Amino acid sequence: MTHDVQYGTAVASVYDSLIAPAMPTEEAVDRLRPYVTDARVLEIGVGTGRVALPVAGIAREVTGMDNSPAMLDEFRRKDVPENVTPVEGDFRRPLPFDSPFDAAYSTMGSLACVRSREELTTAFEHIFQVLAPGGSLSLEYYSTSAYRPLVEQHTLTVPMPHHGGTTTFTVVLDEADVLTMDTRVDKDGEPPVEFSERILLIEREEVEACLVEAGFTIDRVYPAEGLQPYDWYVAHRAD
Ligand SMILES: C[S@@+](CC[C@H](N)C(=O)[O-])C[C@H]1O[C@@H](n2cnc3c(N)ncnc32)[C@H](O)[C@@H]1O
Repeated sequence: MTHDVQYGTAVASVYDSLIAPAMPTEEAVDRLRPYVTDARVLEIGVGTGRVALPVAGIAREVTGMDNSPAMLDEFRRKDVPENVTPVEGDFRRPLPFDSPFDAAYSTMGSLACVRSREELTTAFEHIFQVLAPGGSLSLEYYSTSAYRPLVEQHTLTVPMPHHGGTTTFTVVLDEADVLTMDTRVDKDGEPPVEFSERILLIEREEVEACLVEAGFTIDRVYPAEGLQPYDWYVAHRAD
């Protein structure tokens, strides 16, 4: 089986300047606070460290794993504190860690970068295996209430107040529930940046079923509200 890397240099080069500012981290950090404070924490799909860096201010240790060398390069270029370790790794394979984490989390739907419910369940199992008993998993996953209307609409251009330009999304959903989203960022006076993502778009109950199949006990689900793109799940390893 091939294990593609979705996030290349095009998206990595604009992630912090053009994409991350549209997603302030305060709400995610507040939701994570009870689980990550003073804890040994794993972020799955850490990207450029948008959330790992503020989490490092309250956690004992943060390991940030991602399979994109380009995103990790952007992360390492930052002023990374001593309690943060970026690591290259793919959540579709068993995770490269020996000692257990107290908590794991994944933001902006990183874990949705799979092709099937089976692949999602396997990714959850890999996380389960590196958690201490009682350890928590918090995750944002693409909300069907936000993305199904986008599929109907097919193309949407939205203004981006933080950079003064626009972002255009073109969305197609296939028969296997894999959503391909092409993104084009236009900023005045600069060449457009284009990239493509593929994610598994499934209902909340199905995400919950994959978590349970992987061994997790679900504690709480926060459905996306208003224009929020992600549902938020909190689960833990009960044994
Ligand atoms: C939308 S970005 C989110 C980054 C970060 N969590 C944030 O909130 O800013 C998704 C990240 O998931 C990573 N990713 C996708 N598939 C992955 C995989 N199989 N293993 C590890 N990381 C993966 C991508 O490289 C990318 O950095």
